Amino acid sequence: MNIWPLTAQPALSVGGVSLTEIAERFGTPVYVLDEEHVRIRCREYAKAMAPHEVAYASKAFWCRAMARWIAEEGLSLDVCSEGELVVAGAAGFPAERILLHGNGKTSHELSAALDYGVGRIVVDSPGEVGQLAALAGRRQKILVRVTPGVDAHVHRAVTTGTEDQQFGLSIASGAATDVARRILRQPSLELAGVHCHIGSQITSLDGFETAARRLVAFMAGLGGLPELNLGGGHAVPYRPGEDGLDITAFAERITGAVERECAARGIPVPRLTVEPGRAIVGSAGVTLYRVLTVKHGARPFVVVDGGMSDNPRPALYGSRYHIERVGTRAPAETEPMTVVGRHCEAGDVLVPDARLPADTRPGDLLAVPCTGAYHHAMASNYNHFTRPPVIGVHKGRARALVRRETDEDLLRRDVG
Ligand code: LLP
Repeated sequence: MNIWPLTAQPALSVGGVSLTEIAERFGTPVYVLDEEHVRIRCREYAKAMAPHEVAYASKAFWCRAMARWIAEEGLSLDVCSEGELVVAGAAGFPAERILLHGNGKTSHELSAALDYGVGRIVVDSPGEVGQLAALAGRRQKILVRVTPGVDAHVHRAVTTGTEDQQFGLSIASGAATDVARRILRQPSLELAGVHCHIGSQITSLDGFETAARRLVAFMAGLGGLPELNLGGGHAVPYRPGEDGLDITAFAERITGAVERECAARGIPVPRLTVEPGRAIVGSAGVTLYRVLTVKHGARPFVVVDGGMSDNPRPALYGSRYHIERVGTRAPAETEPMTVVGRHCEAGDVLVPDARLPADTRPGDLLAVPCTGAYHHAMASNYNHFTRPPVIGVHKGRARALVRRETDEDLLRRDVG
């Protein structure tokens, strides 16, 4: 698996457009997104999982253009907020293909989802059952999110399949069964299946298989259900030599395990759903920064014109990235350097262990691959920086999908 977009000439161009040209035309920092990469990943997923369902998790990256690509590629959609639903609606995303998630949904959010006519709502707490039963104007399909008691062995902040955390209803404690039975008693609600999401950036199939088998056992206790949703969490490599999750191997192993477990328990095989976010869009993105200054200490600090406001992941999760100077593949001499942002924190380190050309200097353009997922989505205005634009590239053309934020945008909300 590659860390650069599928159409890239690494550190030179993406989608047939030169990175230098994008930086000059749209400024820096800038997120570049390869439409072809996204579409190819959608097709790979749909093919590997067929006849089962693939729902893109919009929290990874979301805007109207992305919504159109996902709709055109025939995927379903997982939204976790009213805001994500608003964007889906603005792009005309087919309602019946949408699932709504959330461990704490507001009643306004539930009403918005019901009004839009979303296909399924994933119940995450007992109180939602009564709320939904009261609000639903017509029969609403429901999934119950359960915690299977599986540790995916990933960063604590993205571990969600274990007992005793804020997502889902425990199978072990009986809470999941109680809620499922409660749903079955409501005439306006239809219990369509179960859902779990055990974590993110997972490379091993073991946790998925254990979770799938536990969910089948849980479904058997209810006499079988039509849908089994295993969430997302499929890893992609961020640095050369790292592993991603192989979706073909995933599909073979998990469908096989589910079929065997269903046969053993005498229930029909459910339709599976997976909800990849990062695996669809992560490697489609490249972020470009301009070097502002190089400070020479024991080891050079390369200060770029962005930082933790456009990429909070190193500070939040200790995430590691690859970085290259644009236009210099495999230069003769590289040196260890620390690439930092320009925020007022010593924790604003983008790449602590970069290897960059010894003559790296102000004005140079640097490219960080694998920044398509959870970058623009998690960007902030910290220090009142304006958020970078997202530039879509496709077949030799570049266009803004999300424009750069402006100082006027910053002042617009400041109404006091
Ligand atoms: N389904 C559900 C219910 C989820 O909660 C998530 C992610 C996904 C699907 C998609 O997961 P993915 O395939 O993208 O791993 N901000 C963190 C990631 C948080 C993921 C939260 N849930 C990061 O930057 O690594």
